[in-house]
This record gives sequence, structure tokens and C-alpha cells, in this order.
Amino acid sequence: MDVKNKRVLLRCDFNVPVKDNVILDDSKIVAALNTIEYLIKEGAKIIILSHFGKVKTEEDKAKNSLAPIAAHLQKLVNTKVIFSKQSRSLYLEAKIENMNPGEIIVLENTRFEDVPNKLESGNDVQLAMYWAGLADIFCLDAFGSAHRKHASTYGVAKYLPSCIGFLVQHEVEMLDTYILRASHPFTIVMGGAKVEDKVELIESLLPRCDQLLLTGGIANSCLAILGFSVGNSLRTTDTEVMNKIKNILIKYKDKIMLPVDAIVGRVYDEKYVEHVNIDKVAEDDIIYDIGIKTINKYDEIIKQSKTIFVNGTAGKYEDIRFATGTRELLTRITDSNAIKVVGGGDGVSAVKHFKLENRFNFLSTGGGATLEYIIQGGLPAIDNIPDSVK
Ligand code: 3PG
Repeated sequence: MDVKNKRVLLRCDFNVPVKDNVILDDSKIVAALNTIEYLIKEGAKIIILSHFGKVKTEEDKAKNSLAPIAAHLQKLVNTKVIFSKQSRSLYLEAKIENMNPGEIIVLENTRFEDVPNKLESGNDVQLAMYWAGLADIFCLDAFGSAHRKHASTYGVAKYLPSCIGFLVQHEVEMLDTYILRASHPFTIVMGGAKVEDKVELIESLLPRCDQLLLTGGIANSCLAILGFSVGNSLRTTDTEVMNKIKNILIKYKDKIMLPVDAIVGRVYDEKYVEHVNIDKVAEDDIIYDIGIKTINKYDEIIKQSKTIFVNGTAGKYEDIRFATGTRELLTRITDSNAIKVVGGGDGVSAVKHFKLENRFNFLSTGGGATLEYIIQGGLPAIDNIPDSVK
């Protein structure tokens, strides 16, 4: 699209991990720079929208401002970056009016509009029209948020000529090539903390893959359902979710693999770290990592795979005592001849933590979005953009 000297409303996904106001991993911001720099070069006025974290109450606003992210963006680009504390106001409109070509304005977290009336996540028509009214063109470059039908990702496209950005284009091309047209055997290695969110996704992913190697909270939930004690480990206790997992375990018993040993710890005893077989997890134990037998068992599958998709981590890898499982699995994956793709914030951060990023074919910026893309071969906010500009 011709963006020269136009006002471009650019939806990015700047939902990056932040602790004590420090950005732990800026990959998602860096990944958006191709589009941003192109728009700067074309002299567009760049109006950036992004969500950040979950904003459900007034109190959530205090810790979820986009201000530190706008400040970080300023360090990465060679143009002025303005931060607007409002995502809607006459003052904001005046600021945009006074911007020079090639300058950037970052609006406050779009999810602040969710309190109290869920205007952003409810895809409110008036909010979408307001944001659309600030610009001449809408560009969707938030791949990680493209599974959300929100006002800033989906609604605005109805009121402006719209296109996708270079990041979304690249994600789609890579995932189509490597995963949607995956060479088999296709193995998915899945871990991490989110259990409830992943169950439906797993159900849809299973027919597409040949093996699913589970670790983390989802593995603990499966083990508990099968009658193993998992002590105080992270797992779901929701009966509905548990029933779903039970049915999945029955239906796909030949495809799903579970840990056979674990590294356990205890909350009240910092020094307690034990390697146990999976049938020996004590009531007070917390599974923080997989053990060497599991690593070796999973490695047999990894070696035979032609495509491997990684989502989530095998353990609490930030703690050196529980890092071996994640490090070893990732190392063995990178040692294999398979095509390797990682998706999801935690998985990508772990790959970077162990300095393995150059050994993956592709690091996706999406978490839930990437999984949904693999299942559906499309995402609502991307499918919403006319084919002629995709
Ligand atoms: C992500 O981090 O996966 C995306 O930014 C989407 O975040 P959300 O799950 O809070 O919508």
C-alpha cells in the first residue's frame, strides 16, 4: 500500500516480559522494526497501538502502562517517539496533528479501555471507529495478537483501508512452509505453566502431529488423571478440564508421551532437590523439571522426527537447579536434523537463554496465536484483511 506521508495506525504486539520496569526480552519489539523503519522511511505518521498484560481492574493499570516500552522503542529507532498517556482524547488528536512525517506516537495500553466496559476486548464499534478516525491506513503487524477479535486488532480494519505488516507476512510464510506443510514424522514438544488454555489447542493439534511430548503443568495434569501422585505440582483441578484431558489421553494414547522421572523441590525447604521416578513423587514435592530418563526417552522421538515444534519449557529453567530438562531437550532438538520451530514467549526466551536461537529454523513471536494458526491455517485478524493487500 502507498503509505507515503499518510497517517498509519499500526497495531503491534509489544506484550513483552517485563520485571521491575526492565524489559527481559525485547524480541517482539525488535521483530516489528522492519515495518516501523519502512514507515519512517516513507514519511508516515506512525500511530502505534498495542496491548500489554492483562488489564481487568483499575489496579492492573498501574503495572501495565506501555510507557517503559515506548521508552525502549525510542532507543531502537532514529526518530522521535512520543508516548500518549491517553488512548482517546482531544489532546492526543492535537499531538498527532502536530507530528512531523516519520515520527512515532505510542498510545497507552489498548486494554486500559477494557476497564470497566471491555471496550477493547469486546470489539466495541465506537472505540474501533475512534481509533480508525485517527489515521488514513490500518496496518496489522501484531502476529501474537491476531487470534484476538479486539477493537484494535480486528474492529478498526472495517473503517480503514487495511494491510498486514512485514512481521505478519514473515510469520505466515514461515509457519506455512515449516509447519502447515510439515514433513512427517512431526513432533510437538509442549510444556509451560498454562494448562486450561492449552487443552483445547492440544485436542486440535493431535490429529496434525505424530507425537506429542509433554512436560510442565500439562504433563502433571495428565499424570494426576492417570492416578500418579504429583504432590503440590502445578496442574489443573478443574473437573471439566480434567475430563477433557482424560478423553484426550484415551483417544490419543499412542501419540502422547509423559515424563517417567522428575526433579522435585519443596517450597519450605530451599535445599531439598531430588531426582525421583514419576511414581515416587511425595505429597509435599513439587515437580520443577523432567529427569534424565525422560530426556533420553524423548530424545529417541526427537532423533526420528523430520519437523519439531516447541511450545513452553520443560521446567523452571531460570533456576539453575531445574534448568537441565529444558536445556537438554532444546540442545537435543537443535542437534537433530529436523526442521525446528519455537513459538510462545517462554519457549523463545528459553531458546535465547541457552543461546540456541541461531540453531532454530524459525522463532515465532506468537504464543496462543501460533498454536491457533497451526490448527486453523489462519487467524481472525489476518483473515479480516482483504487478500489484495496481503
Ligand atoms: C501473547 O503474549 O501471547 C500475546 O501478546 C497475546 O496476549 P494475550 O494472551 O494476553 O491476548
